[in-house]
Amino acid sequence: MTPTTYGTPLSTKDARWAVEQACLAPSVHNTQPWHFRWNGTSYELHADTARGLTASDPDGRELVISCGAALYNLRLALRKVGYDADVQVLPDPSNPRLLARVAAAEGAPADPAERRAFAAMIRRHTHRGAFDDQPLGPDVMVAMQRAAELEGAELVFVADPGQRRHVLTLARAAERALAGDLEVQGEIGEWTPPPGSTRRDGVPAAAYAAERGGHPDELAPRDFDQGRGFGIGEAVENSPGVIGVLVTAGDLEADWLAGGQALERVLVSAAQRGAYAALHSQLTEVSHLRGELRRELCVQGYPQMVLRFGFSPDVQSTPRRPVDEVLALTTGRWQR
Ligand SMILES: Cc1cc2nc3c(=O)[nH]c(=O)nc-3n(C[C@H](O)[C@H](O)[C@H](O)COP(=O)(O)O)c2cc1C
Repeated sequence: MTPTTYGTPLSTKDARWAVEQACLAPSVHNTQPWHFRWNGTSYELHADTARGLTASDPDGRELVISCGAALYNLRLALRKVGYDADVQVLPDPSNPRLLARVAAAEGAPADPAERRAFAAMIRRHTHRGAFDDQPLGPDVMVAMQRAAELEGAELVFVADPGQRRHVLTLARAAERALAGDLEVQGEIGEWTPPPGSTRRDGVPAAAYAAERGGHPDELAPRDFDQGRGFGIGEAVENSPGVIGVLVTAGDLEADWLAGGQALERVLVSAAQRGAYAALHSQLTEVSHLRGELRRELCVQGYPQMVLRFGFSPDVQSTPRRPVDEVLALTTGRWQR
């Protein structure tokens, strides 16, 4: 909906609150690689490239996906308080770090569906353990596919047993390739603080297991522990869940931003139905294996994320940086 130019401007308090909700988005290694500016009527969303993973994500693809997820949350949070978001993606071709401008204009109050989605967005978390035995029903799977489509992406389920075996083999190969890359491993070390750490970013020890489960039907988990004995989370012993791959039409910055919004919309749609996801990005980080995945799925687009979905009652929350670290309040209009 096109925002009106009149109506009550969003208060600074609500503008800050909406950014806090945006920051609940998933991000690669919980790097939270975003920075927001608010000028009284509009936000700017910037990529914080100082938080980028130069070894495992040299193009910044996963960084932009993470920011896209935060952008989806910002849109949903604005709707929760009755504001419409008018999003201009990549508004300045000379500045690829400026990912979006988001004008907030007073609109209709949130409808029940928007309120349900917002409530699920707050509950959402990455689940890395086993899932309940209850299978994911077609209603949940179709709802997640629809969520991806609404953001211009596609969620492809790996249902065929032979295809699933091949994807698992590719995922193991990707994890092996990354395990042998010292720079990638160094980055993981930097973003996995020890138990008891007061850091407000990175993947906390409670979110992963020290022992990686060896279930043959399991998607290779990322080795956050690195043999340090930090992990105190649960390993996958059984019920590894349904595998899905998020695919975007292209593979440019705008596609990654759309992919991030689609990713979060899928995760929120799952959480609305009591389902959660484990994110496995190793396979999309190794270029030739990503190509093989693309061929295996027979898709025209580009795989951006491999996921494992299932039901799980346990809610693990991870820390976030304080809003004042990620939001600058400014005055004046943005230069066009
Ligand atoms: C682009 C991207 C890649 C990710 N890759 C992985 C991964 O390979 N393994 C994993 O366990 N989690 C992965 N995650 C999940 C993050 O670690 C997680 O979002 C972050 O720690 C914050 O936790 P939360 O999702 O529970 O809020 C990824 C998330 C994003 C957005």
